[in-house]
Amino acid sequence: MSTTFQLDTSTSRATPTPQPIRRLTVPKIRQRKQGGVTQEPIVMLTAYTARQAQLLDPHCDMLLVGDSLGQVIYGLPSSLPVTLEMMANHAAAVVRGSYHSVVAVDMPFGTYEASPEKAFESASYLMKFSGAAAVKLEGGQVMAETVNFLVNRGIPVIGHVGLTPQAVNVLGGYMVRGRGDAEAEKIVADARSLDEAGAFAIVIEGVVEPIAIDVTKAVSCPTIGIGASSQCDGQVLVTEDMLGMFERVPRFVKRYEEIADTISATAQRYSEEVRARSFPGVEQTYQPKK
Ligand code: KIV
Repeated sequence: MSTTFQLDTSTSRATPTPQPIRRLTVPKIRQRKQGGVTQEPIVMLTAYTARQAQLLDPHCDMLLVGDSLGQVIYGLPSSLPVTLEMMANHAAAVVRGSYHSVVAVDMPFGTYEASPEKAFESASYLMKFSGAAAVKLEGGQVMAETVNFLVNRGIPVIGHVGLTPQAVNVLGGYMVRGRGDAEAEKIVADARSLDEAGAFAIVIEGVVEPIAIDVTKAVSCPTIGIGASSQCDGQVLVTEDMLGMFERVPRFVKRYEEIADTISATAQRYSEEVRARSFPGVEQTYQPKK
């Protein structure tokens, strides 16, 4: 059992913590969309580590511990090999590093699809171990029964439709979805069934814009777009993509920074100074007391 929780002194009799937690809650995120309208779009970014969470938390409503960490952190070829333990450990770090955002954690491939009971076992483990407030799972109509099962047992769920990366082998790649009428209708139907099953939000990934708009109009819960539309009720990006950590990023990513260049140039300066013996300098060196 994890001992990573910070104590919320507003709801606990435990010893006061230096910084009482005042997190946003799942109901508050859900209520952002009222009568089909979201006045204040939901801001979500991925986070995988405690320090990253600390930096992102004040600016976000939700932090997603995405299974994209497989590629981003572990250099895996896809998210398929990601395990429950990897997700639980990174989610616990993100919870430790945040006190404002709702932390949601991705259920990795193979840990929820077989049955609602299996999904409950995996999701409850993730939440107990990490302190995350919600899980996200991929799939539409076929997952509706599971979403309902989880929600009725105390597990808030975010759905994920459109381009669902865990289905890469079925889809044949990471292409934009919904270019044909039948597929477009299926994506809208998928989102509707997740909404009816009780998902409190739905990620729409990699679809042509009219579908993202149709889905957003069709469901009562907020939609969170990635490669979708500014008309969604919120947006999410992989933080490292947004920061410019990788050379190639999909078209839907806006590179707000060129962090890879900064890291590379800094490592070069360090290596030059080590080779020239100009680091460590006087300021970084301990001398005996006189
Ligand atoms: O794994 C992930 O980071 C995600 C987002 C891209 C939505 O699912």
